Amino acid sequence: MARKKIALIGGGQIGGVLAQLCALRELGDVVMFDIVEGMPQGKMLDIAEASPVDGFDVCLQGTQDYKDIAGSDVVIVTAGLPRKPGMSRDDLIVTNSKIMTSVAEGIKQYAPNAFVIVISNPLDAMVTLCQKITGIPHNRVVGQAGVLDSARFATFIAWELGVSVKDVVAMTLGGHGDDMVPLVRYASVQGIPVMELLEQKYGAEKAKEVMEAMVKRTRLAGGEVVALLKTGSAFYSPASSAIAMAESVLKDQKRVLPTCCYLQGEFGVNGYYVGVPAVLGEKGVENILQFKLDAEEQAMMDKSVAAVKGLVDSLDSILNG
Ligand code: APR
Repeated sequence: MARKKIALIGGGQIGGVLAQLCALRELGDVVMFDIVEGMPQGKMLDIAEASPVDGFDVCLQGTQDYKDIAGSDVVIVTAGLPRKPGMSRDDLIVTNSKIMTSVAEGIKQYAPNAFVIVISNPLDAMVTLCQKITGIPHNRVVGQAGVLDSARFATFIAWELGVSVKDVVAMTLGGHGDDMVPLVRYASVQGIPVMELLEQKYGAEKAKEVMEAMVKRTRLAGGEVVALLKTGSAFYSPASSAIAMAESVLKDQKRVLPTCCYLQGEFGVNGYYVGVPAVLGEKGVENILQFKLDAEEQAMMDKSVAAVKGLVDSLDSILNG
């Protein structure tokens, strides 16, 4: 059986961690494309030279030629500028939509059968653009946002309650902006509602405040890292998150992961990419799991979807104007 092949478009901070994780987990052979001469070749050589130490055996190649991504099963796109302190993800739209246009043309030509995971920001607009240009079916072009946003939420809950992150389940829906929707009602520790545990610890009123603070920190978590790093944005956690999605597809695991998916009526949204729980398997997005939102969650979802629509509309005017 042939080995799986993963193409990484963009070999910067996230791209480098993606390559190392693909290698360590032996997910398949890896090709890293970047426009910077020598850089992807250098990174892949560096990782390959760790293989005898770490004990992985995959082929790693750096390239400036899209031809080399031919036959990829999964393509992960991180090409584009990251944020600097004071910038919102949306401030990147003009530059990154030009970059995404050239990237998507490369994917269309050489890897039209791949499952594509977009990480470049502003995520909801970049994944929309990537699908439009590649023409790859919607269920095979998705964005990574929700796995990371959910992981951030779960991390804060675990720290607050003094429990292992392994036992926390938490999910965010909606767009990858400050209006994302952390689902407080469904956050649990081994099925026990987090709110109940917080109420035991603090009483009802303070429990609400503590949860609100965690929700706020989750929404602004990307910016918190940007402010500390000063020269770029988060890269370890976005890479890990995309790898979970890629692995589910490559190994047909059918994991339920919050994924930026194209919606056709689900959650009352039509024709936009929005974060929802999706079953990821060899066919790509194999199912979207729907459930009833309460009035407050629905209002947050509507606000988040409105922000996504605004972003996608501005994309149209950038491309047409
Ligand atoms: N084609 C391919 N790669 C490109 C192109 C292009 N047209 N233009 C830029 N790149 C490459 C850069 O050379 C750089 O190596 O994209 C890479 C981006 O890497 P970083 O600047 O280190 O950014 P990173 O932290 O990896 O984030 C990438 O993901 O989370 C988002 O907001 C983040 O949009 C940003 C993206």
